[in-house]
Amino acid sequence: MKISNQDVIQSWSQITNKEIDAFGDDGDFFRQHLLNPALLKLLGNVSGKTILDAGCGTGYLSRILAIKGAKMTGVEPSDVLFKYAVTQEQNEPLGINYVQEDLSEFNSEQKFDAVVSNMVFMDIPEYEKAIQNCIASLKSKGTCIFSISHPCFEDVGGEWENNKQLVVKEYFKEYEVQRNHGYSFHRPLSTYLNFVIESGCEIIRMIEPQLSERIAKENAQGQRDVHVPSFIIIHAIKK
Ligand SMILES: C[S@@+](CC[C@H](N)C(=O)[O-])C[C@H]1O[C@@H](n2cnc3c(N)ncnc32)[C@H](O)[C@@H]1O
Repeated sequence: MKISNQDVIQSWSQITNKEIDAFGDDGDFFRQHLLNPALLKLLGNVSGKTILDAGCGTGYLSRILAIKGAKMTGVEPSDVLFKYAVTQEQNEPLGINYVQEDLSEFNSEQKFDAVVSNMVFMDIPEYEKAIQNCIASLKSKGTCIFSISHPCFEDVGGEWENNKQLVVKEYFKEYEVQRNHGYSFHRPLSTYLNFVIESGCEIIRMIEPQLSERIAKENAQGQRDVHVPSFIIIHAIKK
């Protein structure tokens, strides 16, 4: 069965209020301690900058960046997540503009200083169009920062919890992995990096965030990230 963008988007609309509440205002444990610090460090001073949060989910990162002075636009196709983000904006306005759209069909008239896409591209079947549309929405010399599950060290079945190691068997193939919501697609790291380069960007930095032993003790699943990164964050500049 070939999985379509719509299949994934539909699955993300099955997310429950309970799951959204548990996710929290700053994101889950891994966002709070690994992804957010890396993304914020790479973005630098965002005050006054126009930023696109591509695949914004609940909009938590858009809100963090808006509070720091960025002029935010969030794109999210899933009904439930889009409505949640819009409701948050209505309740506590931060000037965030939310757009309900599939990134693979996104065609922005506005050109942004930066695009940030947090844990999204590996969930999109038509990821090439999504990446191209994000880069097309940037001004010249604009910043493209995205995080994905680290494709070199994927844990598809609680392997670390059981064996304290990860085994890589099929790195070069593209394949889907079923998740709580939708699917993720394994693709080699070079697939993403070369595509971003071929789409007109220069990659200037990568972060493989590591958790300290002290923070890892707060979460039963944290130990893995003391030893092997779950995520990789790429910082590119549009030429
Ligand atoms: C792992 S969540 C990350 C959400 C958010 N960026 C965050 O960090 O909390 C993946 C997100 O990608 C969105 N998504 C899936 N397919 C998409 C597509 N074709 N275009 C844009 N977003 C998509 C999902 O609806 C979901 O919000």
